[in-house]
Amino acid sequence: MQHEKVLILDFGGQYNQLIARRVRDLGVYCDLKPHTMSMDEIRAYAPIGIIFTGGPNSVYEQGAPQVDKSIFALGIPILGICYGCQLIANSLGGEVTHAETREYGKSKIDYTQSALFDGIKSENICWMSHTDFVSKVPEGFIVTATTKTCPAAGFEKQGSRIYGIQFHPEVRHTQEGDRILYNFLYKVCGAKGDWIMSDFVEEQVRFLKEKLAGKKVLCAMSGGVDSAVAATLIHRAAGDNLICVFVDHGFLRKGEAEEVESVFRGQIGMNLIKVDVRARFLERLKGVADPEEKRKRIGKEFIKVFEEEAKKIGKVDFLVQGTIYPDVIESGKGVSAVIKSHHNVGGLPSVVDFKEIIEPLRDLFKDEVRKVGKQLGLPDFVVNRQPFPGPGLAIRIMGEVTKQKLETLRDADYILRDEIAKAGLDKEIWQYFAVITSTKTVGVMGDSRTYENVIALRAVTSVDAMTADWARIPYPVLEKISVRIINEVPHANRIVYDITSKPPATIEWE
Ligand code: XMP
Repeated sequence: MQHEKVLILDFGGQYNQLIARRVRDLGVYCDLKPHTMSMDEIRAYAPIGIIFTGGPNSVYEQGAPQVDKSIFALGIPILGICYGCQLIANSLGGEVTHAETREYGKSKIDYTQSALFDGIKSENICWMSHTDFVSKVPEGFIVTATTKTCPAAGFEKQGSRIYGIQFHPEVRHTQEGDRILYNFLYKVCGAKGDWIMSDFVEEQVRFLKEKLAGKKVLCAMSGGVDSAVAATLIHRAAGDNLICVFVDHGFLRKGEAEEVESVFRGQIGMNLIKVDVRARFLERLKGVADPEEKRKRIGKEFIKVFEEEAKKIGKVDFLVQGTIYPDVIESGKGVSAVIKSHHNVGGLPSVVDFKEIIEPLRDLFKDEVRKVGKQLGLPDFVVNRQPFPGPGLAIRIMGEVTKQKLETLRDADYILRDEIAKAGLDKEIWQYFAVITSTKTVGVMGDSRTYENVIALRAVTSVDAMTADWARIPYPVLEKISVRIINEVPHANRIVYDITSKPPATIEWE
């Protein structure tokens, strides 16, 4: 089915993916594309509306991203946000001024009559993050919103359906920001709202049934949200022709391997092959303390195991990959330094004899993947599973990984998860886990001296894992976790809480 689409032109702002997620959440499919997209490509894309995102540049800067002015003559509604609005002003003869100081945070704003602000209070709060501002709107435009520092926080040319706003409606701190985006989509662009997750499941299953009829499909199942949802979707269409290989490397959390088997084989009835290679992975990590070396060995061994299994299965028609939309967005990112060698299944295609890769989730954001998972009847603990690194607990044990440390960590981590859930914090904290530090300290228990491991607790809030802040877990909850770990888990005698944000730290310790 052909969906109505909104085109979001990416000028490099930090909230760009958030704009796309909000638009989709409002029921309209959209794509985030580089601002360098040509006019021919834009016409061929045939959007019902175009959004210019924010960006780090100043419009007058040499080499600052621009748009082809003929975009304004297409007759397609345009909404420019932050840098996007300055670009509209600058391109059409208005003026942009450089402020002395950057304005960042909540601002009072006054809205006047506009389709964009329909149904919202005129005195309101918006979220600003800018230095430059539009000081004079282009001819034919009217000002529709003002703040203390921005004489044209909102402006538009009604007949041409071109709108600019200096603030960020996609950020939750902008009150009624969703309503502004809704108004643009439905009142200005005339969207009908045909992007609905239940329809997506039906459409995909129908499409996949046809494509996969009688074909053999192979999937590497990690138990993570993406592979779980991709496999379940494919299973709906391919049934027993789908073979899922689940590699248990022994670095999963307490109960996870059993859960994967019980949900996917037991509940869903998937053809799931579990490969128990726990001893083999421990052996490969013997004496290895360097984080990168650990990651590399685990990654390599994982691929080897998968290759062995794939050989037993023989030629397949399709290899499933759990690629999701943020992985495929072409962004303007340059070459960045390698901080960690991430473990993912990217190396698998080279070891499997297959005809084609199938990526049923490549158009979806993570929250959409979760919605699809729910639609498919996957249990909550699978769908809302927090992110978990491929190398698993092995990179949460500082120094050499041993069986005993794994057991200690698993138990401590379980208590942390249990108490966070009991305190009702599991939805608001992005990721939370325990770490075994390489430090041992002296303690006293029942009048005796102990010399045991220091366990660190890590809990962060984040939007996309690129940046993160340490979660302000209430003291009573931290206290409960600490007391329980010390009392219930052997070989731990001290608990510390990690209060570092990312950057400068990373979320994981290795
Ligand atoms: P860092 O530690 O780099 O982690 O701040 C950012 C996010 O990525 C997860 N992570 C991984 N995910 N394979 C993955 O699939 C990996 O090798 C890996 N290492 C880190 C981490 O848990 C956090 O959510």
